[in-house]
Parts: sequence; C-alpha cells; structure tokens
Amino acid sequence: MSNNLLKGKKGIIFGALDSNSIAWKTAIACHEQGAEIMLTNAPVAMRMGEINKLAEKINAPVVACDVTSNEDMTNLLTKAKEHFGGGVDFILHSIGMSLNMRKNKHYTEIDYGFNQKTLDISATSLHRLLATAMKLDAINEWGSVVALTYIAAQRVFPDYNEMADAKALLESITRSFGYFYATKKHVRVNTISQSPTRTTAGSGVKGFDGFINYAEQMSPLGNASGEDCANFCVAMFSDLTKMVTMQNLFHDGGFSFTGVTQKVIEQMEK
Ligand SMILES: NC(=O)c1ccc[n+]([C@@H]2O[C@H](COP(=O)([O-])OP(=O)(O)OC[C@H]3O[C@@H](n4cnc5c(N)ncnc54)[C@H](O)[C@@H]3O)[C@@H](O)[C@H]2O)c1
Repeated sequence: MSNNLLKGKKGIIFGALDSNSIAWKTAIACHEQGAEIMLTNAPVAMRMGEINKLAEKINAPVVACDVTSNEDMTNLLTKAKEHFGGGVDFILHSIGMSLNMRKNKHYTEIDYGFNQKTLDISATSLHRLLATAMKLDAINEWGSVVALTYIAAQRVFPDYNEMADAKALLESITRSFGYFYATKKHVRVNTISQSPTRTTAGSGVKGFDGFINYAEQMSPLGNASGEDCANFCVAMFSDLTKMVTMQNLFHDGGFSFTGVTQKVIEQMEK
C-alpha cells in the first residue's frame, strides 16, 4: 500500500545485488512510495546483470561505482545531479564486504592488507560518500542518509570477525559526519541496525543458520525481515522523521534490549 510518503523525492540506492538484497527491497519500497531512484553498485556486481532487472522494474538509471574510488564516487554524484536536475533527498548505503571472512581468516589472525580493504569498503566509504556529496552539494536541505549496520558493533558475535570493527567505525562516522552535515545543511545521517537477514552478505557469516535462529528466539517480536527494513528506510527518508540524526536505530524485534526470552530458557532447561 502506498501513502506517497516519498512523492517528489529523489534518491540514490547503493548495494542491490539480487532480489534478496535489503537495498533491492528498499528500492522497490521507495519507488512504491513515489520516489525517483538512481541505482548503483560495484562494477563487478553489475556485471552479474541482476540489477538491470530491478532498474527496468522501477524505471531507474544505473551508474557503476566502486565505493573505494574517489573518482567513481564523484562521477556517480555528478551524474545524479545531472539526471535529477539538482541534488538528491535521500541515499541508502547498503554495502558490506569482509575479505578476511572470505578467506576464512580467524579474527585473531587477520591479514591487515585485507582488513584495510574491508574497512574501506564497509565503513570509510560512508565518509567518502558524505564528503564528496558535501563538496559537490549533491544532497538537498533536510536530506536523509541511512547506512545499514549490525549489533556486533556493540556486542561480541565471534564469527562476525573484522566486520564488527567495520560496523563500529561506520556508526562512528555516522555520528561525526552527521554533526557537520546537520550544521551545514540540515542533512541527517543515521544507521539502522538490522536483524540477521538471508542475503548474499548475511550468508557469508560462518554459522549463519545458528545466528539467525538464535536471534529469532531472542527477539520478542521475532527477526525483522528485509521487507520490514525497507519500510523502516522509507520512514527514515520521509519528512516524518526529519529531526532524527546521528543515531544508531535498532530494527531487530527487540533483540538488542532483551536479556533472555522464555523460549531460550526452555531450551536451556532441556
Ligand atoms: N544480511 C544481514 O544479516 C545483515 C544484518 C545487518 C546489517 N546488514 C548490512 O546490510 C547491508 C546490505 O547487505 P545485504 O545483507 O543486503 O547483502 P548483499 O550482499 O545483498 O549487499 C551487499 C552489497 O555490497 C556491495 N558492495 C561490496 N563491495 C562494494 C564496493 N567496493 N563498491 C560498491 N558496492 C560494494 C555488493 O555488491 C552488494 O550489493 C550491509 O551493510 C550489511 O552489512 C546485513
């Protein structure tokens, strides 16, 4: 159902790899709520071709951008300004990649070269995006930027590996840049801390089935789905949340504030 919450708004969505991606679902939800979208992903992800199906469905142009490249970022935001005839109103940063996880390196024995790349893709990219947007004046007054994160930034989930550090940095950049962008142009920056969700990036975490089932049992409302997350992104991009900035917002069915649930106690007593 559409309430036209984003009617007249223009936005850029990073990270739609396939139909499981949270970014994919968010692009559809934003389109349904009346927004115009530009899609982007890393050139290698785009070569897989899936993103073109989404682009066709929501009538969105696609521009390649490797978020570790200043040149690509400048090109993307310049193209967005040309396409929309001015700045954008919202941006979704839905990007994560751990090279050490991919290479099965344990947290205590990570390769620091891989680690630099992980932090660059998964966290510093938010700084690069905001800094480039500020320089090019590519985000409109009261614009809203959301990045996706995970509670491993606050608590230990051993198999989340170096991504825990990447998410902690991502959330810190959200606060620090959020301060400067609010002061300069009333642009808001927040992270949404999402429940475990079955996607390509999510399933890359070792023991993901245990991870997602445990969270389900530990969340009074159950896990938040990708579709739920897309709807929350719509709310964050709308004017109804215009005074919210520099926050890490838990979107996890209550997991983050639950010590234990009856379901888990019953299993412990078996
Ligand atoms: N799936 C989960 O359980 C879960 C939970 C909490 C937070 N998140 C976060 O949600 C976000 C989206 O992940 P997802 O679960 O939808 O998985 P996904 O694999 O569908 O999306 C990750 C995206 O990052 C993109 N990416 C990787 N390297 C890039 C680069 N150099 N330049 C540009 N893009 C690049 C990939 O192409 C992909 O589209 C990530 O930040 C992830 O950490 C996921």
